[in-house]
Amino acid sequence: MDQYCVIGNPISHSKSPAIHAQYAKQTGQQISYERELAPLDGFAGTIASLVARGVRGANVTMPFKLEAFALSTRRTPRAEAAGAVNTLSFEGAEIIGDNTDGAGLVADIVRNAGVPIRGKRVLMLGAGGAARGALLPLLGEQPRELVLVNRTRATADALARQFADAAAFDGHISPHNVRLCACDFNQLTGQFDIVINATSASMAADLPPVPAVVFGHGTLALDMMYTKDPTVFMQFAAGHGASVRDGLGMLVEQAAEAFFGWRGVRPDTRPILEQMRTAL
Ligand code: ATR
Repeated sequence: MDQYCVIGNPISHSKSPAIHAQYAKQTGQQISYERELAPLDGFAGTIASLVARGVRGANVTMPFKLEAFALSTRRTPRAEAAGAVNTLSFEGAEIIGDNTDGAGLVADIVRNAGVPIRGKRVLMLGAGGAARGALLPLLGEQPRELVLVNRTRATADALARQFADAAAFDGHISPHNVRLCACDFNQLTGQFDIVINATSASMAADLPPVPAVVFGHGTLALDMMYTKDPTVFMQFAAGHGASVRDGLGMLVEQAAEAFFGWRGVRPDTRPILEQMRTAL
């Protein structure tokens, strides 16, 4: 039986084993998928022992996504763009690093929420790892405009510059069709079609200083966080007419994308998403 795992610290809370067990059952794939607690200073050693045990692949979560990037001997373009790796495949001497977070976000918006991104006006709140991980897949959908807004403006500017450089991505995006820019929260004007909260504010039950004007009927507001109850961001957006969504769909979809990368079979995510929602 091919072995996989999810590595993090802490890791006991991870929903990935339950999700991958369902995907395996649904697709008839004979795999095992376990939790792996890596010491905070021992990620490389954990990877070495997994490879020695013949493990085929691993998901990587907090706080090791940057170390997983550094340890990868090869990386997919979307991992390269994200600067972080959440999915590893061990193939002989190669450690192949991928990042499925952005593809998971896009799949949740386009397929699950039924909202096309192409030609739309998209606002991304935050410019940390979560935002960066989503940008290449988002740009690949060819929105009309992608605005990056961050409390610390310089980080958003740097991110916009990085992704405006088409040459860096070997034609994976054609940014000339997308207006990509960065601004401050107080410069935001007009309603957006899609607003994504990629800040970590919801973890502290904080609301990013986003003006209500960006929301309206016809706006999809998605918080990358998920909890049983709507986050303050979701409550604020809903209060101004937006349809809201949390990050549970993105979680389930990024796992499906990893599963597809490893097994070549795409699971049906809908029943698992419903099940996870009920279990929250
Ligand atoms: P992650 O990997 O989850 O993205 P991160 O790299 O630490 O974590 O980034 C956190 C992001 O949330 C940053 O964009 C941060 O803004 P700053 O760059 O100004 O720090 C943003 N953030 C965190 N708390 C916030 C808050 N209360 N309001 C607005 N933005 C917040």
